[in-house]
Amino acid sequence: MSKKAITLALGIMALSAVQVTAQAANVEAGKDAFETCRGCHTSPGTSNVYPTYYVPKVGGQTEAYTVAALTAYKESKRAHRTMMANTIDLSEQKIADIAAYLATASYGSGKAIANGGDIAKGKTLAASCLGCHNDDAKSSNPRLAGQHANYMEKAMQEYQSGARKNAIMSSMVSGLSQDDIKDIAAYFTSLKGGLTTVK
Ligand code: HEC
Ligand code: HEC
Repeated sequence: MSKKAITLALGIMALSAVQVTAQAANVEAGKDAFETCRGCHTSPGTSNVYPTYYVPKVGGQTEAYTVAALTAYKESKRAHRTMMANTIDLSEQKIADIAAYLATASYGSGKAIANGGDIAKGKTLAASCLGCHNDDAKSSNPRLAGQHANYMEKAMQEYQSGARKNAIMSSMVSGLSQDDIKDIAAYFTSLKGGLTTVK
C-alpha cells in the first residue's frame, strides 16, 4: 500500500470509530434509564430541601454537559447526596444514553420560576457570560436560558465558595455580589430557551 492509501485507510478507520461512538448513545434506552429520575425532574415545582431551591430543569440540556454533570456526581466530584446515589451505578453507556435522551426532550418550555431580581441589571452583568452560555444546543457548556432562578443562584454561590469546582466558573463569578447573582439569575430565567421540564 502506498503511504497515501495507508493514510486514507487510517482516516476511514478513525471516522468509523467516531460513528460507532455516536451511534452508541441510545435515546430509547436513555428514556428507560430516566424512569427513576422522573419523580424529581419532571414536575416544575419540585424543591430540594436544606437548602431550598428548585430541582434544575434537565430537558433540552446540551448532551456534553449532561454527561459531564452526571459523571461528576458519579465520581463524587460534585457533592450532592441524592444525585451521587442516583448516579453511582450508572455505566458510561447509560450516562451517554440519558444525555442523548434529555437533549432530545422538548416538551414545551415548562415554567421557569423567577426570583424577583432586576432583569435589566442582570442582562448588563451577563454580557460576559453569553459567549459560552449562548443557548447553543451543540455546545459543551450548559444552557441557562429558562432555568429556575434559585438553582442558578445556588450554583454561582457554590462556584464562589469552591463547593462546586470549576476553574473558569469560579473566576467568572468571584467578583459578583449576592445582588449581582440574583439579578443575573433573574435575567437567564426570563429568557425563553431550550431548557424544558421533561414530562
Ligand atoms: C430526589 C430527587 C432527585 C432524583 C431522584 C434525581 N435527581 Fe437529578 N438532581 C436533583 C437535584 C436537587 C439536583 C441539583 C443538585 C445540585 O445542586 O448539584 C439535580 C441535578 C441533576 C443534574 C445536573 C443539572 C445541572 O444543570 O447541572 C442532572 C443532569 C440530573 N440531576 C439528572 C438526573 C438523572 C439522570 C437522575 C436519575 C438517574 C436524577 N437526576 C435523579 C434531584 C434529583
Ligand atoms: C468560558 C466559558 C464560560 C463563561 C464565560 C461562563 N461560563 Fe458559566 N459555565 C461554563 C461551564 C463549562 C460550566 C459547567 C461547569 C461545571 O461542570 O460545573 C458553567 C456552569 C455555569 C452555571 C451552572 C449551570 C448548571 O446547570 O448547573 C451557571 C449558573 C453559570 N455557569 C453562570 C455563568 C455566569 C453568570 C457567567 C458570567 C458571569 C458565566 N457562567 C460565564 C462555562 C462558562
